[in-house]
Amino acid sequence: MNTLAIDNVGLLVTGDPELGTRRNAALVLQDGRVAAVERAGVAADERIDAAGRCVIPGFVDSHTHLVFAGDRSEEFAARMAGAPYAAGGINVTVATTRAASTEQLRALAAARRREALRAGITHLEIKSGYALDVDGECRLCELAAELTDDVTFLGAHVVPPEYEGRADDYVALVCGEMLAACAPRSRWIDVFCEEGAFDADQSRAVLEAGREAGLGLRVHGNQLGPGAGAQLAVEMRAASVDHCTYLSDADVAALADSDTVATLLPATDFSTRQPYPDARRLLDAGATVAIATNCNPGSSYTTSMSLCIALAVRDMLMTTEEALLAATAGGAAALRRADIGHLAPGARADAVILDAPSPAHLVYRPGVPLIAATLVGGRLAWADPEFGPGSARCGR
Ligand code: NIG
Repeated sequence: MNTLAIDNVGLLVTGDPELGTRRNAALVLQDGRVAAVERAGVAADERIDAAGRCVIPGFVDSHTHLVFAGDRSEEFAARMAGAPYAAGGINVTVATTRAASTEQLRALAAARRREALRAGITHLEIKSGYALDVDGECRLCELAAELTDDVTFLGAHVVPPEYEGRADDYVALVCGEMLAACAPRSRWIDVFCEEGAFDADQSRAVLEAGREAGLGLRVHGNQLGPGAGAQLAVEMRAASVDHCTYLSDADVAALADSDTVATLLPATDFSTRQPYPDARRLLDAGATVAIATNCNPGSSYTTSMSLCIALAVRDMLMTTEEALLAATAGGAAALRRADIGHLAPGARADAVILDAPSPAHLVYRPGVPLIAATLVGGRLAWADPEFGPGSARCGR
């Protein structure tokens, strides 16, 4: 099989503890995998000339809600005028998603996936959770599976209107018929453990049923206030607890002592005017931290991992290196995947060419589109027209 070299890389960030960063490097790809890290000028069948740019591992977005219809820009505007964010807004999107055709949902999700590629996201997790009935959740899981192998069944997002006042009955549906329909299409189960969604006992029941059905566990927790989510995630050995905006010292200690990843979603706190999570406390305690976009129409309608990294550095006091690691290897850890999130030989050839000399520019130049090209499995999945094949700068 032919080799492809991304050559003349000014700074190659491998994300691999042994390989570290290399200057004047070439990344050699073969069969969709990283074959070698070499000096610039390496022989290869094909080459992409990075012309001194920085190359980083593709972003791994471990928390998205990509399949939905409708937007909530009015709710966002009300928030900017002082209204608080509340879990109940989810049911607005449930109504528009239920009403949409499968073709509409497919096209909307595919457009958001393309947007994410332009943002350098080479792998993503996608949750269901905007149908909240058996057939609808099943449809969302199927559509998500067209875009990723990390599909998460989130029937326990909120209680839908027809079950108002009967949350336990809805939990029984989620754990029974809905799970049976969605599990074959999913790798994960998730629950929103929060005031206004599901309490600790209901959340535990959902996670236990999911585990019984062979799914890995994820938790939305500690988003809107202190709560049981983080501790429950650790107790159940979930792969990740996401949001972590309100953590007690005991929560931080429990996470640090576990293999549950603390996934931080800074664009959510930005969009909901909430405080940012205390990333330093988690990192200094030794917890594994991931950063994800949480792309959804209510609390975080963005696919910009660059924005998340900039916020993590500017407002959560992470270093650029920590934030980049959290958006790549951290995301991979949150999805329990060893094949992505780094650029060591054998890893999937998922890489981003930055139109910048170093990742520091992701923070230093906020809001500027710095993704020159995105490669997934060794193929150019997206390239800036200024950079792509056929342009002088690509040199392919
Ligand atoms: O992760 N917290 C729960 N779910 C989403 C919000 C979804 C919505 O508001 O539509 C989140 O922020």
